[in-house]
Amino acid sequence: MSANYKRVLIKLSGEALQGEQGYGISPHTLETFAGEIAELQRMGIEVAIVIGGGNIFRGVAGSTAGMDRTSADYMGMLATVMNGIALQDAIERLGVPTRLQTALEIKEIAEPYIRRRATRHLEKGRVVIFGAGTGNPYFTTDTAAALRAMEVQAEVILKATNVDGVYDSDPRQNPEAVRFERLTYLDVLSKNLRVMDSTAISLCMENDLPIIVFDLNQAGNIKRVIEGEDLGTLICPNPR
Ligand code: GTP
Repeated sequence: MSANYKRVLIKLSGEALQGEQGYGISPHTLETFAGEIAELQRMGIEVAIVIGGGNIFRGVAGSTAGMDRTSADYMGMLATVMNGIALQDAIERLGVPTRLQTALEIKEIAEPYIRRRATRHLEKGRVVIFGAGTGNPYFTTDTAAALRAMEVQAEVILKATNVDGVYDSDPRQNPEAVRFERLTYLDVLSKNLRVMDSTAISLCMENDLPIIVFDLNQAGNIKRVIEGEDLGTLICPNPR
């Protein structure tokens, strides 16, 4: 099967890295994900990744616990950098070159985010990992994913989650929940479906950037999605 996309942006939540252990980074989950990324790179797909930090620290949780929201969000951004370093290490151990770029400058650890440089890295076959979200408090890493996808002209956002798509209610609580195969951006906003926050969805809508939400825990799913298999939920301007 041939690939449907040449350049993709994968949004990986921090929680997706914690595996069964419920916090932090599961070495097994990390290695499995790195293996799938390495396979894409070897297929000639250009891969950018935006990583979340919720497995280490969640800004919103910090602020609801009484912390200043800005401070809590900066801690969340630092958590994404830690995940980014772990991911970079895991992918490079498989012999695939990567570059980590951060929206907050931490030069000793990573390159600062420079759009043209990121694009160049992608062209050269390096997996580019974006850390520290957008570098601004009050913006989620989903919004960072939408923004970076547009900036590097990715053709699609692949949102890897712990459920196999978007449902009309929480499938973990409601066994009758129905999965949507296709949705418009407006459906997501008007039905208040919790796929991505509304800032991220609006950005994708204004720029006609499709999003595919799929289950990361099923081995080989990223490749299947890229090869056009009908997995998860597709969010696009005009679903069939
Ligand atoms: P080309 O210019 O296409 O060859 O890309 P390159 O990334 O290989 O070039 P460069 O010589 O800029 O980078 C070499 C290594 O240094 C890479 O691993 C980069 O990620 C890293 N690097 C570059 N700039 C920075 C920085 O500001 N901070 C950190 N920590 N590493 C950097």
